[in-house]
Amino acid sequence: MVTRQTSSVSWAERDAAVVWHGFTQMSCYTENAPVIVERAEGRELIDVDGRRYLDAISSLWVTTLGHRVPELDAAVREQLDRVAHSTMLGNGNRIVIEFSEALAKVVPVDGPHFLYASDGAAAVEQALKIAFQYWTNQGIRGRHTYLAFGDAYHGDTVGGISLGAGGFGTDVFDPLRFKVLRAPSFRNPDAFKEAARLVEQHAESLAAVVVEPLVQGAAGMLIAEPSRFGILQEACRKTGVLLICDEVATGFGRTGTLFASEQCGLRPDLMCLGKGITGGYLPMSVTVASDRVYRAFLGPDLSEKTFYHGHSYGGNALAAAVALRHLQLLEEWDVLSNVRARATQLREALTTRIQPLRGVHEIRQCGLMAAVELANDSAQRRLARRTCAAMVRRGVLARSLGSNVILVLPLTITAEEVERVVTTLQAAIDEVVV
Ligand SMILES: Cc1ncc(COP(=O)(O)O)c(C=O)c1O
Repeated sequence: MVTRQTSSVSWAERDAAVVWHGFTQMSCYTENAPVIVERAEGRELIDVDGRRYLDAISSLWVTTLGHRVPELDAAVREQLDRVAHSTMLGNGNRIVIEFSEALAKVVPVDGPHFLYASDGAAAVEQALKIAFQYWTNQGIRGRHTYLAFGDAYHGDTVGGISLGAGGFGTDVFDPLRFKVLRAPSFRNPDAFKEAARLVEQHAESLAAVVVEPLVQGAAGMLIAEPSRFGILQEACRKTGVLLICDEVATGFGRTGTLFASEQCGLRPDLMCLGKGITGGYLPMSVTVASDRVYRAFLGPDLSEKTFYHGHSYGGNALAAAVALRHLQLLEEWDVLSNVRARATQLREALTTRIQPLRGVHEIRQCGLMAAVELANDSAQRRLARRTCAAMVRRGVLARSLGSNVILVLPLTITAEEVERVVTTLQAAIDEVVV
């Protein structure tokens, strides 16, 4: 008979033998007790040995309503009976049109047009190329630099890491990074004033500014006051420099509104969406272009004004079907009310029960995205990692980012589940910080 432990080790070994995991040192993959998921129920993942884990990172920030939501499952099944995929290059697909019409009604972009891809980084890459060609299509040369923020993260393609401020072990790629103009991090209270100043000073060479509205997520949930973004938008409007909002992490409710740009009063020229767009079901991302941007690409057939870019799976029909049903459910179930209520509960619990613990340095939270930064000493990375491992052992899936324990909770999380996350975090910190 195979014991629970043996079968788990065996799956991890089979995994390590053939799968290369991103952001993971494979030489010690199995020693770090990876969770090998087999199935899920609600907001819990279930491993090959039947152990349950509350998904407190929403499967890397993608899951919104939970796993195996009957309505979303049905949407995929129904679409399967029609067609799984057909190309967007030169042709259309009914469900993609229907989803785009629904998304157009809620996205804070004027006269939106949607160019689909599969991952957040690809949506960012598309935005960069669109911004560049927007200017060349109008005969304006020299506008091919971008302004990004300190501590920014925009994905792992070469364009994405160029905009990103580095870190995460990616310094090795420095020779590949193209130069961008760098505003300060959200940590700096003058970041937006400085960014606006840089936009005005370098307007002639800037194609676009790229910003994560409200939260620099991957930096460890660095949060900027919503009122600070206005000055940047004004500088962009004054100079014509395009404003790109990267809402890959913040989009679809995570911060308490459907899009974080709404809280910041931003209506960008280009917006990047991904992660939660399909409720975490299927890979889909999209670059949203305002009508102003889109029109610059119109011209004669086969002309050089065309945007010669597209991905094989962009506008996948199964993904569009689940994305459409997901958008409807967000409204039908009034999911954002739950996000706000649970965010208040989480804030109170973190402030009263986690902040006072030994080893806790700072807590930052926006909606259902939170970072618990642990002590700032040389062992800090291992502390956060060991805390997450202790949480996993107790049945809550968490992941560290540098010295931070990151919590990104599903939008439908219940009060009891928030309690379970906080209790588990408390026990894990008590165990790890000695
Ligand atoms: C703000 C932001 N942009 C882009 C990305 C990249 O998305 P993906 O991992 O889907 O390529 C991420 C991922 O965390 C992100 O947080």
